Amino acid sequence: METVKLNNNLECPVVGIGTFMLSPADAENSVREALKMGYRLIDTANAYVNERAVGRGMKASGVKREEVFLSTKLWPSEYENPNAVDETLERLGVDYVDLLYIHQPAGNWLAGYRQLEKAYREGKARSIGISNFEGKYIAELETKWEIAPQFIQVEAHPYFTQKELRATLEKYGIRLMSWYPLGHGDKSLINEPLFAELGKKYGKTPAQVILRWHTQMGFVVIPGSKNVDHIRDNLNILDFTLTDEEMARIAKLDKNERYYHRTDAQLVQFAAWKPGFETK
Ligand SMILES: NC(=O)c1ccc[n+]([C@@H]2O[C@H](COP(=O)([O-])OP(=O)(O)OC[C@H]3O[C@@H](n4cnc5c(N)ncnc54)[C@H](OP(=O)(O)O)[C@@H]3O)[C@@H](O)[C@H]2O)c1
Repeated sequence: METVKLNNNLECPVVGIGTFMLSPADAENSVREALKMGYRLIDTANAYVNERAVGRGMKASGVKREEVFLSTKLWPSEYENPNAVDETLERLGVDYVDLLYIHQPAGNWLAGYRQLEKAYREGKARSIGISNFEGKYIAELETKWEIAPQFIQVEAHPYFTQKELRATLEKYGIRLMSWYPLGHGDKSLINEPLFAELGKKYGKTPAQVILRWHTQMGFVVIPGSKNVDHIRDNLNILDFTLTDEEMARIAKLDKNERYYHRTDAQLVQFAAWKPGFETK
């Protein structure tokens, strides 16, 4: 598996599987099958309420814990819970994660970030990250972090390439992990004629061309899927390379337009919401 080197020298696979909106049963299945077919990066979150299922999928795959790069996220209502990290590890059935994010710039997010730094120092998180911290949030955090994050996880795809954010990331060697990499099931992105044309040239599906674009942009990509054929396809993207000219043509699709628009009112709701964690 191709990897990228993080700003703390840890290696992370360039492709993984995301588990947002997967029920526990689907998450367990997708994670087990993905690991069996060669995936080594898994992304979940407190808020997905499937961490126990992800842990079960990892065990059932037979792949050794140390071979998997496991990423999860603390939800804002956990930022002031001093046991949030240990409880997250317990749900996942592991004694460390490879990457621990704070999920949203909501509530007492600085307390959340301090928990990440503590977990990093204690070896409970081998790298740390911020999710959805674009603009003023990363600008404020930048003045307060004691340990710079290794990752930021944000919406990114050919319609929205995070041009502005990327300048800040370069300063610190922070890697971008793309969410909604395929447009979250929206067909207009996948159906762009350019991806069909390039797919034909390389013997790939439009989705595979989009995912390869992410990796060539230097992004780590975690497409979500509960379809085993898609899961297989999404891993099978590293045996071709888009030319500079093709990357330039894809760059022209950038509309600087997100699919998901978060409001300040939602941030307040996020801070108040408590995930109904799985009990078994
Ligand atoms: N930090 C955050 O706030 C945040 C927000 C959103 C997402 N995320 C993370 O990012 C991951 C990816 O985002 P996402 O899952 O929402 O969106 P996505 O990966 O852009 O799209 C997932 C959708 O695409 C379909 N799909 C997957 N592979 C396909 C393929 N090869 N061909 C055609 N369709 C395909 C899936 O359907 P099938 O199941 O039928 O394959 C699903 O409907 C999440 O799972 C989560 O881990 C993080």
